[in-house]
Amino acid sequence: MTGVWKCVGIFAAGIFSGAALLKTLEREPGNVPGRFGLTRRDAEKPFDFDVEKFLEMGDPGPIHDKLVRHGYMSVYDRRTRTPAYTAETITKESLAQRDGNRKYSRFKEDEEVPQMYRAKLSDYYRSGYDRGHQVPAADCKTSQTAMDETFLLTNMCPQVGDGFNRNYWAYFEDWCRKLTNKFDEVTIITGPLFLPKKNGDGKWVVSYEMVGNPPSVAVPTHFYKVVIGTSKYSRTDNAAVGAFVLPNAVIDDNTALSTFKVPVEVIERSSGLELLHGLNASTKKDICSQVNCSLDVAAFKEHIDAKKRAAATAAADAKK
Ligand SMILES: *[C@@H]1O[C@H](CO)[C@@H](O)[C@H](O)[C@H]1NC(C)=O
Ligand SMILES: *[C@@H]1O[C@H](CO)[C@@H](O)[C@H](O)[C@H]1NC(C)=O
Repeated sequence: MTGVWKCVGIFAAGIFSGAALLKTLEREPGNVPGRFGLTRRDAEKPFDFDVEKFLEMGDPGPIHDKLVRHGYMSVYDRRTRTPAYTAETITKESLAQRDGNRKYSRFKEDEEVPQMYRAKLSDYYRSGYDRGHQVPAADCKTSQTAMDETFLLTNMCPQVGDGFNRNYWAYFEDWCRKLTNKFDEVTIITGPLFLPKKNGDGKWVVSYEMVGNPPSVAVPTHFYKVVIGTSKYSRTDNAAVGAFVLPNAVIDDNTALSTFKVPVEVIERSSGLELLHGLNASTKKDICSQVNCSLDVAAFKEHIDAKKRAAATAAADAKK
């Protein structure tokens, strides 16, 4: 084994099999991908920086925690103490189940995240923000465990309550659930964004609040959802895709959902995530060409009111 190969081997461990690595080298002889995505122009010389030795001092990573739950996945960002993204897949059948009831669920700190990086109940307490579910509780009724797990703080972001989390965002979530009437499977990627704004002096600046004492959980400026409707025959062909970015602010009920529609690339650029690169681009469709991209706010409110009336009637009956 030459020095080069040994060095490349160390860098490539875990990601590239030998054969895959060889292919990469054949394609781009001067460009060696490393374990950390580093490339080196001159592959003839050994690397001067020894990563293995550096890591003996302690590996600074990971910078995120991939938390897989019964009903969803959250990739948690330790810096903002919110998810970077969450992902779930719902179907008409999964939504029809009634084995989880939010009445029995409690908001909970996630003990899988080391203490220092954990979002805490005290961070949200009296912050003025809701503990906003990224994966909605109502999407995870397949078991009480699945429902309870949506209440972990690794599935939360600080969200404006009245006028956003409890209103427009909730209507939007309901619109996503209704997509199961049209598609066999609906996959939803949800998460926060921290978008720049132009200052008085013309410079772009990202500014966001941190809640908690000491400051701990970042308050996103925006939220995104990427919604993918697929058939039971293929998850990658004929996918209907919609991407939306909403401000973390009061939104008037009458605002058209199309106001918030963006190309997926906008979310990729601002979140740093590579989204849906596995979909067949030549058969991909705009979801709004397949379904009505208007929120039915009146129907949602009527549904909530009907539930309240039913609960009140049940309570009154119980007293008789
Ligand atoms: C993408 O879809 C086109 C059109 O149906 C098809 O010809 C092609 O094979 C598909 N590509 C992949 C990678 O499946
Ligand atoms: C789309 O949905 C909205 C809200 O429910 C409704 O008012 C509108 O008529 C629908 N449009 C079409 C073309 O069905």
